[in-house]
Amino acid sequence: MSRDTLLTKPGRLPLIAPSILSADFARMGAECAHVLGAGADLLHIDVMDGHFVPNVTMGPDLVRCLRRALPEAFLDVHIMVTDPEQYIDPFADAGADSLTFHIEPVLDRHAGTGRAPLSEGYDVRAVAERIRARGMAPGLAINPPIPVETIFEFIEVMDLVLVMSVNPGFSGQAFIEDVLSKTRTISERLRPDQRLQMDGGIKPENAAMVRDAGCDVLVAASAIFGRPEEERAGVIEALRGA
Ligand code: DX5
Ligand code: ZN
Repeated sequence: MSRDTLLTKPGRLPLIAPSILSADFARMGAECAHVLGAGADLLHIDVMDGHFVPNVTMGPDLVRCLRRALPEAFLDVHIMVTDPEQYIDPFADAGADSLTFHIEPVLDRHAGTGRAPLSEGYDVRAVAERIRARGMAPGLAINPPIPVETIFEFIEVMDLVLVMSVNPGFSGQAFIEDVLSKTRTISERLRPDQRLQMDGGIKPENAAMVRDAGCDVLVAASAIFGRPEEERAGVIEALRGA
């Protein structure tokens, strides 16, 4: 499958995206190569700034190394950061294929919560357009407490919508079932070239529910990397519902 068309014209659905947050960081290249060989479609890279979420994880340098080590891999970067704009150029330069940012920093700014101000002219569409202009597929993420209507007006400019099924920050949290009501309303509004991703608490036991709710890109960290290597192909297959 070509990296350029993996999201817009996928050869198969759903796509399975192991989140490398639960990989063994000391063996990262081997862990990534192994899950791709075990049937994964893309690598999900969770970037946290210690401000928007209470954890610090990985950044552009890791993406640069993965791009070099795995030239064919689709690198799906999910940025949980207060200022998404700041990270567009670094991740584009590093070789990311998609860049998914959160709606909440924009809402915070408009609500005047006192968070650090984002740069002049910041808005969701402009960020998506800048991401696309830098050769990446733009994605928009929404956390569990945020009403789904909040993102309707922005969906058309995205390649990917990400509905979070945990409050982001850590892998291994429990799946929040309530979010499934959001995905139906979103999937009705998507074109065939747009993907609906879900992230957080997904495992073989609840994957059918996620797929039935219209999601076609399933992210999983602990369900895949928490298992021994020889079981991971089976987990990926079970997530896909093959
Ligand atoms: C949540 C991250 C997720 C997380 C998923 O903060 O965005 O991608 O790593 O982990 P699991 O699948 O273990 O819930
Ligand atoms: Zn994620």
